[in-house]
Amino acid sequence: MKKRMLVTSALPYANGPIHLGHLVEVIQTDIFVRFQKLLGRDVVYVCADDTHGTPIELSARKQGIEPKALVTQIHAEHVRDFAGFGIGFDVYGSTDTPENQAWAQRIFSRLVEGGHIERRSMELTYCEQDRRFLPDRFVRGSCPRCGAADQYGDVCEVCKSTYAPTELRDPRCALCGTAPVRRSSEHFFFKLDRFQELLSSIALGQAEPELDPQVRNFLNGWLEKGLEDWCVSRDGPYFGFLIPGETDKYFYVWLDAPIGYVSNTERLARERGDRDVLDYWGERADSEIWHFIGKDIIYFHALFWPAMLKGAALKLPHRIVVHGMLNVRGEKMSKSRGRLRTAREYLDTPGLTPEQLRYYFAANLTPEPSDIDLNVDDFRHRVNADLVNNLANFCHRTLSLLRSRHEGRIAAPAGWPEKLRGTFGALREARTAYERLDFRTAMRMLIEASNLGNEFLQQEKPWAAEAGKAHADLSLAANLAYALAVLLQPVVPEMAGKVLAQLGREGAKLADLGELWGGGTPAPWIREGSLREGGPLVPRIEAAAAAALLPEEPKESGPKGPVAPSGPTAKGAAAVEGGPTPGSAEPRHSERGAESLSQISFDDFAKVDLRCGLVVAAEAVEGAKKLLRLTVDLGEAAPRTIASGIAEAFQPAQLVGRRVIVVANLAPRTIRGVTSHGMLLAAGEGAGIRLCELPGEVAPGSQVR
Ligand code: 2FM
Ligand code: ZN
Repeated sequence: MKKRMLVTSALPYANGPIHLGHLVEVIQTDIFVRFQKLLGRDVVYVCADDTHGTPIELSARKQGIEPKALVTQIHAEHVRDFAGFGIGFDVYGSTDTPENQAWAQRIFSRLVEGGHIERRSMELTYCEQDRRFLPDRFVRGSCPRCGAADQYGDVCEVCKSTYAPTELRDPRCALCGTAPVRRSSEHFFFKLDRFQELLSSIALGQAEPELDPQVRNFLNGWLEKGLEDWCVSRDGPYFGFLIPGETDKYFYVWLDAPIGYVSNTERLARERGDRDVLDYWGERADSEIWHFIGKDIIYFHALFWPAMLKGAALKLPHRIVVHGMLNVRGEKMSKSRGRLRTAREYLDTPGLTPEQLRYYFAANLTPEPSDIDLNVDDFRHRVNADLVNNLANFCHRTLSLLRSRHEGRIAAPAGWPEKLRGTFGALREARTAYERLDFRTAMRMLIEASNLGNEFLQQEKPWAAEAGKAHADLSLAANLAYALAVLLQPVVPEMAGKVLAQLGREGAKLADLGELWGGGTPAPWIREGSLREGGPLVPRIEAAAAAALLPEEPKESGPKGPVAPSGPTAKGAAAVEGGPTPGSAEPRHSERGAESLSQISFDDFAKVDLRCGLVVAAEAVEGAKKLLRLTVDLGEAAPRTIASGIAEAFQPAQLVGRRVIVVANLAPRTIRGVTSHGMLLAAGEGAGIRLCELPGEVAPGSQVR
């Protein structure tokens, strides 16, 4: 095993906000890095803003500010947004620094010395009106390969091919809109074909960087077409580094951008003081370098970058992990269709938390470069069903019951019951799935384990069982909660941290689960102790919050198409038109409409928060014949006390373990000295009262609608 690991995410351009697409990548990388830390490895996570080139210059122009001012302002925003999602960079720097300039010059001059750079004249697009060359994004026109209109001068966003600006059809200057002319200029070319052998071995999987087979296929395709020289300079004016010895030629942004990985490692090493940049990037360094990127920039990372590093006698990456793109409702997330959501918009949406998104992405991420679809209903359902109702609920229930019935003390016997022993295989598989970057399977395995835990509680009913047995069962369940929290740390560090803090085991590592990894049955890790205080773990996602992030798109209506609905949702409409309540004299379609006294609007109905509640204890209330005092678990930090007038129909013991429907947002009321925090739904009178109940698979706290 190598001594040190260096992990990077692609450097975001400093020309606009971080959006959910960037977050897929940094969340994937962050989970990987946190998992490596859990393994106890020496790993650093390096990232920075990509600050040069035409994207930055054009955005700065649009805002009427200097590129340097734009870069400074955007850097602060990026740092803040990433912090909002708990991304644990060890350094988040910039490419516009003296260190990056020095590294760009050093690497370039090594390539020159190695004979890998050639200088020659080429034809370029030039705007006579603006009196400047028009590189890359400064010229727009139709793609020479697929014909798509309005593409940049360097790459087509539709067919993804790259080309020279002079190849564009019907070119226009992006600044003034006039047609450019051609003019020749001297430029520097990196001779990629000199690295043919290395690149072929990479494409065959015989040399590092390791790539997914699908990515190797891309590479093979490019190699078969033949490697062309790569132009690494641009004419001034250009926002970037001047090439030494030149007066008006600059490094192309894609030359100095990946060099930012190196220069920011140097900055980190200097800040830490206990290591050197060459401990990572030296040709023979005892290190492993991992790059995480999107599939749109494979060309730069899998062809140019390894060749540059080889030519400059630096260490090649060990692996390049390529993820897919983020789609929204099956289509590319684009600004023009209003689907581009920024990190800030997410963070500002009430009711959404960063860990909900981290969990959702984890549940969809595999090592393959498959696209992820963000579908609001799926997002909500997945987070609520798996993270909230299953994982968090198991931990929360176990710890709350230990607190409410056993003074928060853990006393675990040596032997595990059969059901809980069944979780060890899933926990071990979760670990190996993390190791191979299959976070989707890791999440499935953890859910499987917590499912068994929930079933165990259901079977053993520690809220009703004899105190000694209940205490032992809950103490063992708390041990499972501990193992789950350890393994959840990479994905939901805050939630997992809260569980570990209650157990007094903050910062636990995989090694702390010791014997589990040997394949046998471990002794319970926590045999005795007292729980610390703890609050709610993770909130559920309400429909309104999910819809606020990504509102329904109006249906497109052609000339004969249906009119986009503007009224209530289908569900709302059914509620309004569903007919009068039994016994009401209202006609089916009241002429008084939705404002009628006996009808309520869907919005009125939506104000009632109905939840599944699990009755964990019940007792008579002295001096009140009809009243019972119930303790009901609603999936919250602590169970609630609810007073209910059902004593004529039920003995207290008959109620424990039942799942009832609770009006959860009723203002508290004091009835016969008992302050009640909610109300149960029931039908009938006196001894004939019957409760509205839910089946066993509905988790406490689930919304009823
Ligand atoms: O495509 C992009 O957003 C680039 N800014 C990524 C650069 S990654 C690295 F090479 F710097
Ligand atoms: Zn022009």
